[in-house]
Amino acid sequence: MLIAHFSDIHVRRNPRGRQLLGKRLVAQANLYIGGRARAFDDHPVTLLVEKLLSCKPDMVVCTGDLTAMSLPTEFQAARDLLAPVIQRFPFIVLPGNHDVYTRTASRRLAMEACFGKFMGSGPWPRLFRHGKLHFLALHVSRPTILSSTGLMDKGQLERLGEILDSPALRKTFNILLLHYPLRNRDGTPYRPMLRRLHNVGLLEGLMGRSKRIHMVLHGHEHQGFSTQLRVDGAVIPIFNPGSAGYAHSTEGGHTASFNLYHVDGMCLKSVAYYALLGGAFTRKHVVDCPVLSTETAG
Ligand SMILES: [Fe+2]
Repeated sequence: MLIAHFSDIHVRRNPRGRQLLGKRLVAQANLYIGGRARAFDDHPVTLLVEKLLSCKPDMVVCTGDLTAMSLPTEFQAARDLLAPVIQRFPFIVLPGNHDVYTRTASRRLAMEACFGKFMGSGPWPRLFRHGKLHFLALHVSRPTILSSTGLMDKGQLERLGEILDSPALRKTFNILLLHYPLRNRDGTPYRPMLRRLHNVGLLEGLMGRSKRIHMVLHGHEHQGFSTQLRVDGAVIPIFNPGSAGYAHSTEGGHTASFNLYHVDGMCLKSVAYYALLGGAFTRKHVVDCPVLSTETAG
């Protein structure tokens, strides 16, 4: 079973009229002063789509931040760019903090209007089954004013505990999906404080007790890495593919990337890391599992 994982494409369109107020006004200024406007581009996403079509994955997962500012035009553009992939392969997506960028966008379910079909339904966490795989998608993103912190709320923790205890997950390979990192690339608790997930310790404790999560996929940090969570005797691999919307920049030292996981039965066999180099996504590293290396996977 091949699972393609990309994140943080940050499709951007200019806000108009009343959309250019409050947080979006500050963001728009930062885009040009901070150079972020040049950091992301539609072109890598077009190349990503081409590459995913040739990889023929069994499942495609996006761990959030489809957009820059949650504008309806951005969601529609993301949907149009990704259409060849999401019409052909099973696809799961969850919201990143930029997909619930303002309270209005969150309340009006701007993301759901374009991507609801791929987000499941009912209370979060949402469970998706594909053969012997289970995907548990968390929604921990929320509109904030000065920070970009996430929150693992009590209701989701309780429901996740119930799902992990259910017999349905006993003989399947279970993958936790969320936008926020649990850990830094060196395996220490994720920092900085203004970008982190609150209550992450409770989430990790639950994972350690249940021993039912076999792999964690996330985004948010735009330079990819892999690491491990060691908790209560469990060792759980964690993967961040990096941003798939990053324009290539030798000066900035970044480019777009995504991951391809090969899961065979209850075993993660390998992880391939693809980077946008020389005008196309090329396979940079393949890590045979369970030997995981933070150097080689990202
Ligand atoms: Fe993010």
